[in-house]
Amino acid sequence: MAKVTRTPLISGNWKMHHNHFEAIQTIQKLAYLLHKDDLEAVDVSVHPPFTDLRSVQTVLEADDIQIALGAQHCHFEEKGAFTGEVSPAFLAKLNVSYVIVGHSERREIFGESDELVNAKVKAILKWGMTPILCCGETLDEREAGATEEKVAGQVRAGLAGVTAEQVGALVIAYEPIWAIGTGRTASAEDAQAVCAFVRATVADVASADAAASVRIQYGGSVKPGNAVELMSQPDIDGALVGGASLVAEDFAGIVQFPSQRA
Ligand code: PGA
Repeated sequence: MAKVTRTPLISGNWKMHHNHFEAIQTIQKLAYLLHKDDLEAVDVSVHPPFTDLRSVQTVLEADDIQIALGAQHCHFEEKGAFTGEVSPAFLAKLNVSYVIVGHSERREIFGESDELVNAKVKAILKWGMTPILCCGETLDEREAGATEEKVAGQVRAGLAGVTAEQVGALVIAYEPIWAIGTGRTASAEDAQAVCAFVRATVADVASADAAASVRIQYGGSVKPGNAVELMSQPDIDGALVGGASLVAEDFAGIVQFPSQRA
């Protein structure tokens, strides 16, 4: 596989936390804590709730903060009778760069199927944004030795009909479900093994070039204390951070992992 440099992407998934006032405060604190060098070494995105997006966009753009705006999900149609849903076109209009798709909470609580996830991946790409496609196994699946089967199935289904070039430019987040919000993290060794497997799956469904350039994040209880070890693994290109992204000091500590690695 060709050796390419992949800029790590650290994404903060705020889930249903922070109203728009709290969101603005968090972004302002982050901007204060992060230096220019920090934001040149890695890519960073924040994914606030929909009601905060416009406020956060305004702060990021007015102060020229080098943090990308992200969303947590979207519908796959541009418009129509879909009460309560948000169009990918509306997100693109707010200069959203990254959209999380197929998070395990959406799959488990809101019944999102692989087919729906695939339709969303295509819609996000169509509107010029980058999908962060999530995959990951439950504890039962892990204990039954079915991790690879689950993850490969989600990756294959999620990327069906997407060109190899598009696959190479998107982001996959490997998030073992048992590690999300539990304080339990996959060991760096285990996380690396599954991320390497995801990369091999991408080589198979798309191309070797796509596999070499696709960014694969690890997610699941990433904290400042474990970020360096996890993100130093060769196939882990960043992190999707939930709980720790809500606190500016903690998220900044994770973003600053390259300087702590030295
Ligand atoms: P966590 O969440 O960091 O709180 O485990 C990760 C996620 O759900 O993306």
